[in-house]
Amino acid sequence: MNSNPKIISDILDLKRKKGALILAHNYQIPQIQDIADFVGDSLELAKTSKAIDNELVIVCGVKFMAETAKILSPQKRILLPAPLAGCPLADTITAGDVLSLKKKYPDAWVVSYVNTSAEIKALSDVCCTSSNAVTVVKNVPTDKVIFIPDKNLGWWVKKNVLGKSVITWDGFCYVHEQFSLNELKKSRKTFPDAEILVHPECKKEILEASDHVLSTSGMLRRVKESTATKFIIGTEEGLIYKLQKENPGKEFYSLGCAKTCVNMKQTTLNELYLSLKNEVHEINLDAKIIEKATFALERMVQYV
Ligand code: 13P
Ligand code: SF4
Repeated sequence: MNSNPKIISDILDLKRKKGALILAHNYQIPQIQDIADFVGDSLELAKTSKAIDNELVIVCGVKFMAETAKILSPQKRILLPAPLAGCPLADTITAGDVLSLKKKYPDAWVVSYVNTSAEIKALSDVCCTSSNAVTVVKNVPTDKVIFIPDKNLGWWVKKNVLGKSVITWDGFCYVHEQFSLNELKKSRKTFPDAEILVHPECKKEILEASDHVLSTSGMLRRVKESTATKFIIGTEEGLIYKLQKENPGKEFYSLGCAKTCVNMKQTTLNELYLSLKNEVHEINLDAKIIEKATFALERMVQYV
């Protein structure tokens, strides 16, 4: 989708000259997805920024994603083109809240979803993603966990990890919270042969009534391996662009009306161009926070 050829060639020129790499989350607008070197889910972006040699990395997404990239690659310069693009779900919990929970449940491990600030990761025992949360909680060496901050993913973990006590926080994503059971029932009726894929941030009644509960990249993988030709997608609408692009022979419909994360849509080609040109909106984190958050993030791989 080349909507503005001049700005696109300017970005590509700057990228070459500066040896920068552009990463974009699966929810970004089509023009950003098309210009990026890599498009993926939140953890894939951080892992890619660590794996590559480029010293300058532009993360087109929201703040916790750029922070996670910085935690895993502290020596690199990480830019977030839309500096005010936060994640309201990540913002539902503060460091003070985590400290109170730790005090209340001293024998529990704090398992934090990657959608958290660097400060919260630094206070956690281990991190997890939407695709490995169940496995991480099953495998950590404790029978009691404090799962933060998403209550729906927390409910999914509780349902799938029997025999452990899972204390959840009341956070939720305002985008995924909008999917309703009524919409799901209507979609089933309209497309009886379609598979319904939903993100674990959706409400529990949606998770229960769907065919598969998957992260954004999990949905991309499922569509490739499935013999179905129609899919109902219960996540932010930006993913449908990538699903369609990678699977031209298949059909994709949003579960009910399309749901948009306005935070994710703050990154435009213009913001990307300006951030790259002026090398602004760099992520800077305290060294102690990086050290502790790295421990929680790297520990995750021991339990998957
Ligand atoms: P993924 O890690 O599955 O891409 O999800 C990120 C996110 O923000 C979901 O709303
Ligand atoms: Fe945060 Fe929800 Fe937007 Fe994902 S879709 S970035 S969880 S607000």
